[in-house]
Amino acid sequence: MQQLQNEHKAVFERLLALENEVGNLMLGQVLEGTNALLTMPVFIENAILPHFKIEEQTIFPILANGTPQEMELVKGLLAEHIVLRDLFYSYLMEVRKGVVTEELLTLSKHVCYQLTTHAKKEDALLIPLLRKWLNLGSGGPSPEHAPPIVFSEEEPNSQSS
Ligand SMILES: [Fe+2]
Ligand SMILES: [Fe+2]
Repeated sequence: MQQLQNEHKAVFERLLALENEVGNLMLGQVLEGTNALLTMPVFIENAILPHFKIEEQTIFPILANGTPQEMELVKGLLAEHIVLRDLFYSYLMEVRKGVVTEELLTLSKHVCYQLTTHAKKEDALLIPLLRKWLNLGSGGPSPEHAPPIVFSEEEPNSQSS
């Protein structure tokens, strides 16, 4: 559970850096050296997408037999993952052009807003429910058993689609 919250915290920090950078770019500032905008694709592939996968395979199933409201929450979060994956795809396509375009800045803002909203929703609604379920000894898998996610800056060896 703590791991999930720590990962959300890391995501918030990253998105804040990205948001600031996009804001500066929109004001006409020029990018220099390593920056949040260009390192974001690696972060998406090495940290965010594996995080989604663990939530879908390990965390969400814990609530799969919950109350109608709990099931509705999981359904909503899953739908948000689908929307976010599409958004990441568009973002990755645009960032790989290697040029800072208006489209890239707009997509970056969408990524920041939608991913932050999603992670905040999980912190506010999902994590308290998981605590409740795990304290009741539901017998489901514990999130702490999920393999650790490494926030690596290195390019992934291979990309799966
Ligand atoms: Fe999620
Ligand atoms: Fe999450």
